[in-house]
Amino acid sequence: MAITNPPFSLVELRPRLHKLMDFAAEQVGALAANHPDYFPMYTQNGCWKHSGSLWTDWCAGFLGGQMWLLEEYTGESSWRAIAEHYSQLVEYKQHDRAVHDLGFIFLNTYRPWYLRTGAKRLNNVLVTAGCTLAMRFMEKGRYLRSFVAPESLFIDIMMNVPIIFYAAKETGDQDLFKLAVEHCRTTQRLIVRDDGSTAHEGIFDPESGDFLKQATHQGWAPDSRWTRGLAWSLYGYTQVYQFTKDTTDLTVAQANADCFIKHLQESSSWVPAWDFDVPESPDRLPDTSAGAIAASGLWTLADEIEPHDQIMAVHYRRSALKMIEALTQDELMGWSTSGWEGILKRGVYHIHKNLGVDESVMWGEYFLLEAIMKVLRSSDSVREI
Ligand code: GLY
Repeated sequence: MAITNPPFSLVELRPRLHKLMDFAAEQVGALAANHPDYFPMYTQNGCWKHSGSLWTDWCAGFLGGQMWLLEEYTGESSWRAIAEHYSQLVEYKQHDRAVHDLGFIFLNTYRPWYLRTGAKRLNNVLVTAGCTLAMRFMEKGRYLRSFVAPESLFIDIMMNVPIIFYAAKETGDQDLFKLAVEHCRTTQRLIVRDDGSTAHEGIFDPESGDFLKQATHQGWAPDSRWTRGLAWSLYGYTQVYQFTKDTTDLTVAQANADCFIKHLQESSSWVPAWDFDVPESPDRLPDTSAGAIAASGLWTLADEIEPHDQIMAVHYRRSALKMIEALTQDELMGWSTSGWEGILKRGVYHIHKNLGVDESVMWGEYFLLEAIMKVLRSSDSVREI
């Protein structure tokens, strides 16, 4: 493919990233002060206290996750205390068999906590969560079932399967490792498409385990390119590669990344629409959260691809920076609307259920901060990429 991304100046972007992290500290601090121990998923008219349903309870790790990132950014012990508190509040979910989201919940909370302390008790929570998630494995069909039904596989699970790999590594359990690999291969074979795009869901015959069809809940159509699902796959397969070191996983992540970037270039915007196939206005809203996930995933993908292909590594880093630059323009920032309680505006949760549409969404906040921290960590002495 043609690599046309020009060098990106970090000197110009860096002050904006610092401004955003300072703003994030204000917004997250205000949420914790105004609504203690509350785990919102999306804003309603810019306010975190929402009356709409959760649909499924998958976001509890993203608030504590932001607090750990803010602790790193500010170096302030008060963030450490609150991050520990909000992590502790989700500990009971290590046994939660109702959701497929234990990676989202624990890798952003207990992993940073464990990395800072080395406390075995914290690692045990991560391992237990990984083992709990593995119980969703369907022998017939060879996949981890989604929260919706036994016959349902979601692309989102690619972001959660890393906690099973983690548990396998920590315990040396080869069966756990093989189960996780099988889920990745089934997902790749059945809902990652030849053009690198992904379906949201795969449906199986629960009796035989035969694959029946691609489907969607949150995308525009079963055969469309739901942007966030594609970002989950890009980032998920990148993380899986970190455990497997199997270039099959890297190849899937690259196919997802190339598809994502191609569609952004074709739409002449570095902020993705919520589904690349959705028709023009009024339905073609942006989903900034998909952009934040993709930017963070691309940055890590660039690190992983670097030993194999330096040119593509640079291309992915520049694309990630373009996305971050676009996502941090004033009109998308909470500071542009008086009283807006979120950091990043214009996310979409579930358009068909009218939940969190054109609002701040908790995972969008988390992945934007995560992407920015990756850039800040690696750019102190770098002027351009
Ligand atoms: N449940 C994950 C998502 O909405 O992307």
